[in-house]
Amino acid sequence: MAVDLLLGLQWGDEGKGKIVDVLTKDYDIIARFQGGPNAGHTLEFDGHKHVLHTIPSGIFHEGTINLVGNGVVIDPVIFKRELDNLAKFNLDIKKSLLISRKAHLILPTHRLLDAASEASKGKAKIGSTLKGIGPTYMDKTGRNGIRVGDLEMDNWQEKYRALADKHEAMIDFYNVDVQYDLADLEAEFFKAVEVLKSLTFIDSEEYLHQAQQNGKTILAEGAQGSLLDIDFGTYPFVTSSNTTAAGACTGLGVAPGKIKEVFGIFKAYTTRVGSGPFPTELFDEAGEIMGRVGNEFGATTGRPRRCGWLDLVALRYAVQVNGVTQLIMMKGDVLSGFDTLKVCTAYNYKGETIQHFPYNIEAENVTPVYTEMKGWQADLTKMTEASQIPQALNDYIDFLEKELEVPIKIVSVGPDRKQTIHR
Ligand code: IMP
Repeated sequence: MAVDLLLGLQWGDEGKGKIVDVLTKDYDIIARFQGGPNAGHTLEFDGHKHVLHTIPSGIFHEGTINLVGNGVVIDPVIFKRELDNLAKFNLDIKKSLLISRKAHLILPTHRLLDAASEASKGKAKIGSTLKGIGPTYMDKTGRNGIRVGDLEMDNWQEKYRALADKHEAMIDFYNVDVQYDLADLEAEFFKAVEVLKSLTFIDSEEYLHQAQQNGKTILAEGAQGSLLDIDFGTYPFVTSSNTTAAGACTGLGVAPGKIKEVFGIFKAYTTRVGSGPFPTELFDEAGEIMGRVGNEFGATTGRPRRCGWLDLVALRYAVQVNGVTQLIMMKGDVLSGFDTLKVCTAYNYKGETIQHFPYNIEAENVTPVYTEMKGWQADLTKMTEASQIPQALNDYIDFLEKELEVPIKIVSVGPDRKQTIHR
């Protein structure tokens, strides 16, 4: 069986958690392949809201296997908190949640290093979620990291000590004011590691290979968004993993030829949290309305998200890099009430009009070229059928499909599972 992929096409927060939850019934296995607790995947059903950070979004479906792949970085402390929040659901976690031995661990000192690095950058800071993501991936590629599989060995604490001591020296080197009590942090960490060790560790690439041989259906769940990809995003204002389709191959051990559908999720407008360029960002009432109506606050950090019009230059780029086969448009309901909507179809770049996403998209280099479209007034949040979609929204969708050359198969009109229109 093939593996399907679901990815965010913008700067994250597109609503991946909700859609994975909606699609889960079609899959035997949901597998996270990159990122870590910098993600906040929100699911709403039966009047309750749940935010997951590391645990895949299929966890609430009975019988679904949820796999944390080798490309993910795990903070045992946050992981334990997620498990504590799930306790009331009486899930059989030992059976339904599997963890790759090759996934790397976020140590308390990784979080401190993240804080020190950001503090040292001053105004040039990345706007990191400060979950230790960058330093952990640095240790992974620097071949110093501690992996989940190490926890099954006797000497892992020696390795831990050597690495934590080195990190402390590095924190000193930054020479910034980062206050901490490592003994306290370590007590919490070692306690959480014991909880992690009670879960099921597997050789996940082998597990997924066997699952494919046995005809199981697999959905790879991306985190963050394509424009935060370490290679293809707006570097250096990116995260430290490959958030694009190729990341699923390296983050799960799935061969490229095995990938079938690539579901690309985007919002009907654009948001970004943290620093970095954002050509269609709005500083006026329209942006304020999107933020307020769309409740645009980070699920992990609570920070307000920057809002702007839909950027088709960036979206086209993400569709290309990922090989998207089906699009899913989120939060169409948030745009209800605007008389006119703008969509960026090209950039004015150093005196030229360009259609592609250039190396440099800072405001001094790029001005968006907009097409204006008629807005819609109807409240979409009660709609469940494609036939109920107002004409102006259908025109908006048709325009995007033509520009992106990929069909929009799902239109989401609210955070609940039920507020989902299939086309
Ligand atoms: P880090 O991955 O926490 O170091 O953050 C790096 C950049 O990616 C910052 O601009 C963050 O705001 C952004 N970022 C990281 N994770 C997410 C996410 O899940 N959603 C949206 N932005 C994110």
